[in-house]
Amino acid sequence: MNQYELHRLLAGSRLGDRSGGTRKALFEQRLAANLTLIQDLFFSLYPDQADAFKRLLGKLPGWFKERTTDLQDQDLDRLAEGHWYQSSRWVGMQLYVDRFCGDLKTLEQKLPYFQKLGVNFLHLMPLTKRPKGPNDGGYAVNSYTEIDPRYGTDKDFARLSATFRENGICLMLDFVVNHTSDEFSWAQRAKAGEARFQQYYYTYPDRTVPDAFEANLPEIFPETSPGNFTYIPEMDRWVMTVFNSYQWDLNYTNPEVFLEMLGNLIHLANMGVDVVRFDALAFLWKKLGTDSQNLPEAHQLISLFRLCLQVVAPGVALLAEAIVAPHEIVRYFGEGPLKGNSCELAYHATFMACLWDAVATTKTGLLYRSLRHIPEKPASGSWINYIRCHDDIGLGFDNAHIAALGWDPGMHRKFLVDYYCQRLDWSPAKGAVFMFNPFTGDGRITGSAASLLGLEKALEASDPEAIDTAVDKLLMLYGIILAAPGLPLVYAGDEIGMPNDYSYLDDPAMAEDSRWLNRPLHDWKTVRRLGEASLPATRIFESLSRMIGLRREIRALDGAGEALLHDPGNEHLFVFERRGKDDGLLVVANFASSVEVLNASWLQRLGYVQDGTYHNLARDTRGKVGSGLLEVPPYALIWLSKSQL
Ligand code: GLC
Repeated sequence: MNQYELHRLLAGSRLGDRSGGTRKALFEQRLAANLTLIQDLFFSLYPDQADAFKRLLGKLPGWFKERTTDLQDQDLDRLAEGHWYQSSRWVGMQLYVDRFCGDLKTLEQKLPYFQKLGVNFLHLMPLTKRPKGPNDGGYAVNSYTEIDPRYGTDKDFARLSATFRENGICLMLDFVVNHTSDEFSWAQRAKAGEARFQQYYYTYPDRTVPDAFEANLPEIFPETSPGNFTYIPEMDRWVMTVFNSYQWDLNYTNPEVFLEMLGNLIHLANMGVDVVRFDALAFLWKKLGTDSQNLPEAHQLISLFRLCLQVVAPGVALLAEAIVAPHEIVRYFGEGPLKGNSCELAYHATFMACLWDAVATTKTGLLYRSLRHIPEKPASGSWINYIRCHDDIGLGFDNAHIAALGWDPGMHRKFLVDYYCQRLDWSPAKGAVFMFNPFTGDGRITGSAASLLGLEKALEASDPEAIDTAVDKLLMLYGIILAAPGLPLVYAGDEIGMPNDYSYLDDPAMAEDSRWLNRPLHDWKTVRRLGEASLPATRIFESLSRMIGLRREIRALDGAGEALLHDPGNEHLFVFERRGKDDGLLVVANFASSVEVLNASWLQRLGYVQDGTYHNLARDTRGKVGSGLLEVPPYALIWLSKSQL
C-alpha cells in the first residue's frame, strides 16, 4: 500500500473536515503511520546518529505549521482524490521564465496563452539565485529559497503561485538536490577553511581518494568539465564536482546535509510548489569502487525525503530526473519495501529516445522492444512523457535490444548522431553534437524538435512539401505522447515549431554549452501572427491545442492505465491502445515516408471501425476502408476512439 492509499484509509471521512483540529490530527496520524519507515531509513543511512534523528522529528511539526491553510486544504483534497497527478486533466509545459517572457510578473500575464493552448501544469526552470557567470541555466544554485532578482522577488513568486492555483494551474520547480554552486554559503565557508562545511561536500587533501573514485566514475560533461574533481586553491583541497567544475556535490553521508536539504525541500513545498523535480537524483550517494549512480543508499535517501515530505505536505508529488539505463529508471518509483514510497513521477527518457530512434530509422522495432522490456512500475507511479527538454537527447538504449534487431550497437548510435547532427547530406535534421567523448566515442544530440525534424532546413529552402512533412512529424510525436499513459510535457517553443536559437554563441557564459540551441527566446512575433493560414506555427499550435482538448475528453486516457502495445506486422507503424472501462482509444503512427496499411477487419473487430468507416479524432477526418485496409499516410497520426465514432 502506498502513502496515498494508507493515508486515505486511516483518515477516512475526516478528509472532508477542514477544521484546524482535524488538520493537525491528520498530520499527527501521518507522522505516526510513517514513523517506523522513516526511522528505519534514517538509521540505515546514519547509524548512531540518534541526536540528528531527534532533531529531524523536532522539526516536522514546525514545518507543517508554516504551511498555509490553503495548501493544507489542498493536500487533503489531493489525498481524497487519490493519485491526483495521474488525471488526464494535466498537460504540462516546460519553460525558462527569462527566455519565455522576462520575469514572473510578465509570466502571470501569459495565463491566456497557456489557457489557449490548454496547458495547466508549468515546469519553471530554476528561479533561485545563482552565480553571475556560467551557472548551468540556474542548476548551480547560490540559494534554495531566494528568487533571483532577474525574475523578480519572493513576493512576485508568492503572487504568481496563488494566481496560478486559483486558475487551476500546477507549478513544478526544481530541487537541485545533488550539488550547490561554488558560491553557495556552505562552499564559501568551506573555502575559508571551516572544517564543518568542508564536510558538507566531498573534499580531500590530495589526489589519493579522487584518483580511486575516478577509476569507476564516468564523465558527464567530458568536453567542458573533464574529470569529477576540482582543485580549490583557497582551501588547498580537491572537491567532487561530477557535473561542472563550479557545481560541488553535496555529501549526504553527513546527516547535517540531509537535515538542511530537507528544510530546503519543505520550503519549496511551502512556497506553493505542486511537484518538485528532483534534479540529478541518481547521483545522490557516492561509494568508492562504484560508478556512484543508482546506489541503494540513494534510493533510501530519496524515500526518506519522500516520507518526511509526505508527513508535512502530502499533496506535493516528486518527479525523478533519472536519465539512466531503462531498467534503472523504474526503480525511482520505489521498489521492495519502498514500493510506492519514492517518487510518484519519472521522466520516460527511454520512450523519448526511442521515438527519436524511430524517426531516424523510420522503423519502430527498437521502440517496441525497449517498451516491452521496461519492468512494471507501481500503479501509483506515473511517467512524464516528453519529446524534447532543455537537455540533450542521450541515446539511453539497451545495447542488447539494438543487437537483437540485427544492428551493431556502436554503429547504430553513430548513425543516430550523424543523422541528427548534420553529418549526412540527405538527412533533414539540423542538430548538433553535445559532449562528444573521444575516449568512449559517445555523443549526445541537441537541437530543437522542429530543427531535428527538418523544419529549419525546409524553411531555409522554402520547400512547402518539406515544411508539411516536418510539421506532420512534430504533430505525430506530440500526438503519441498526448495519448500515452502519463503526464505529457510540451517544451516551450515546440507549440509554434521554434527552430534552434544560435544566439547563445554570443554569450561567453553559454557559448560552450550547445544545449542552449534549444533554450530559445520565445518568438512572440510569431505568436501574434497565429491564425495566418500560411504559417506552419498556426497548424502546429491549433492541432496541438485541439489534441490537448480531446485528451481531457477521452475517458480511456484518464488514470494510470497502461498502454496495450499492438504488433501491426509492419516495421514502420507504432500502434497502441488505451482501454478504459467503457471506452478505448487506438493510436496509430506511421514513421515512414510511404503510405502503410493496417488490417481493417482487425480494427472492426476491436470496435474502432464501424461499417467500413472510421473517424480520426486527432485530425478530425473521416475515411472509408473499402479495400479492407486502413491506409496510414506518411507520418500520419491517427486516434480512433470507440465511444466517439
Ligand atoms: C540535470 C539538469 C541539467 C543539469 C544537470 C546538473 O540533469 O536537467 O540541465 O545540467 O542536472 O544540474
